[in-house]
Amino acid sequence: MAFISTRNVSFYYDKEDSVSLKPVLDGIDLDISSGEFVALLGHNGSGKSTLAKHLNAMLLPTGGCVLVDGRNTAEEDEKYEIRRMVGMVLQNPDNQLVSTIVEEDVAFGPENLGVEPSEIRRRVDEALDTVNMLDYREHAPHKLSGGQKQRVAIAGILAMQPDCLVMDEPTAMLDPQGRGEVLETISRLNSERGMTVVLITHYMEEAVAADRVVVMDDGRIIMQGTPREIFSRVDELRAVGLSVPQPTQLCYLLRKQGIALPDGILDSEECVQALSMLLEETNVGN
Ligand SMILES: Nc1ncnc2c1ncn2[C@@H]1O[C@H](COP(=O)(O)OP(=O)(O)O)[C@@H](O)[C@H]1O
Ligand SMILES: [Mg+2]
Repeated sequence: MAFISTRNVSFYYDKEDSVSLKPVLDGIDLDISSGEFVALLGHNGSGKSTLAKHLNAMLLPTGGCVLVDGRNTAEEDEKYEIRRMVGMVLQNPDNQLVSTIVEEDVAFGPENLGVEPSEIRRRVDEALDTVNMLDYREHAPHKLSGGQKQRVAIAGILAMQPDCLVMDEPTAMLDPQGRGEVLETISRLNSERGMTVVLITHYMEEAVAADRVVVMDDGRIIMQGTPREIFSRVDELRAVGLSVPQPTQLCYLLRKQGIALPDGILDSEECVQALSMLLEETNVGN
């Protein structure tokens, strides 16, 4: 059984809109397995954030249902446990940090859950260690870099021991270094801890790290598959306002010029390999 299932989910922000307008989410069927890393792509307004909020009962479907570990998000009694199981990391770390000291910030979540003080201490240290911020435990969050702040925000969620992290453009406000730090943290949580991850991003290179890429347009899921499958479909992605990773784009353009490169190249390493093989073959021919 999938860890999270959405079944024919439709959603209107205002129910009265359902008479005249298109739904913001329209028949979303999505299964997310335990331990899976899913990247969710789509241009602005396609419904990604709205869908993300359905995964931890922040929003409830107008039609259809969302099950988390078999619990229906529409059941009031399940809401608390669902929100603990599915932690949400948002775009702006400043909106997620509440305290003036890093470790107090990370303790905030488990304190609210009524966790024992000694256990809180253990969880805070473990969570900060996991995001490589233990040395900063007594620092002031507002003095940290964007990437460091976002990692502290992730630690705050981890301290509640969730099964799944849903991240809504967590790197959008960060510089390249901060983005790298946060993506590395996310990948490691997934591969080493088996954390289920749903990552919304508009950086195509970040989606390459996922097991599965899900593409939304106009409130619907229009494609899903491995990063290689999805990023081979350059023209379809472009049609819905999305790009592909730069090395993929480069090989795509070269192929269009008649250069025999494989499609679905995902990163610069693969690009270099394919190009050098091609050049070697050409040299042999000469
Ligand atoms: N709180 C809201 N009230 C009314 N409409 C909203 C609200 N939030 C988003 N929308 C609308 O829902 C659609 C999907 O938005 P959103 O889920 O934020 O998309 P994305 O995250 O993919 O950019 C957009 O048309 C947006 O204007
Ligand atoms: Mg959004």
